[in-house]
Amino acid sequence: MQVIYKIPELALYIERLKKQNLEIGFVPTMGALHEGHLSLIGNSKKRCPVTLTSIFVNPTQFNDPNDLKNYPRDLETDLKKLASASCDAVFVPSESDMYPEKDTRVFDFDGIDTLMEGEHRPGHFNGVAQIVSKLFDLVNPDVAFFGQKDFQQVAIIRKMVKKLNLNVQIVACPIIRETDGLAMSSRNLLLTEEHRKIAPLIHQTLMQAVAKSNGLSVPQIKSWVVETINQSGLLKVEYFEVVDDQQLIPSKTFKNGKNNIGCIAVWAGNIRLIDNISFNL
Ligand code: PAF
Repeated sequence: MQVIYKIPELALYIERLKKQNLEIGFVPTMGALHEGHLSLIGNSKKRCPVTLTSIFVNPTQFNDPNDLKNYPRDLETDLKKLASASCDAVFVPSESDMYPEKDTRVFDFDGIDTLMEGEHRPGHFNGVAQIVSKLFDLVNPDVAFFGQKDFQQVAIIRKMVKKLNLNVQIVACPIIRETDGLAMSSRNLLLTEEHRKIAPLIHQTLMQAVAKSNGLSVPQIKSWVVETINQSGLLKVEYFEVVDDQQLIPSKTFKNGKNNIGCIAVWAGNIRLIDNISFNL
């Protein structure tokens, strides 16, 4: 596996692939890799002859300086995991190379960034768009793979690709879960033992909510989910919203002919976890 630290080196690598007409599958990450990331690489490898990953903890998407400071970083282990997953190359840029000057670009996502993550993490999606657009520019991928756990992020990236006329196909891959149902996340590493133990309640509650959704209204399901999780005493729901999967407009009813997705953010102590589920199973 080729480990690329510098932009000119990446440019040469990409140029070589383009000359050979090889399709590039791209998996951008912030490191602290887990099975969820490796499944993105697996999906890319199935589809593209070359898979390139990036590892970069992007400061502009963190609205909380402590979250940025505490974000898990372990490059050595990440590189071993990528090599075992037969990833072809990884780009590991420095902050000064990615942001030689302050990025002042402000993206317009037509309102899909104003609720849920966007409402609770102001500026987060603008930062995601800043880094992903830079990475797309440098890597020039044919296909890019993102996890469906970050459901709203995928919608934002699709919107950005459309608005900027970028020639890259976005593929959303299913959420990968621990055996107890907890959605895999780099932040799971930061959970205390007792929060880790209770955290699967999030997915369990979402699954029960889907089962109940035949007989209950959207507001009833929303209250039930929030109460059930908060009753644990250890978890605190920040938001639970049901939206359609296209425009991310809050759904008033489950019977609207749309694919309704229940999206949740939960505080487990100081760690913020997100998850989602489709109500149209
Ligand atoms: O999902 C992530 O890990 C990040 O938001 C991404 C897409 C790598 C951009 O920094």
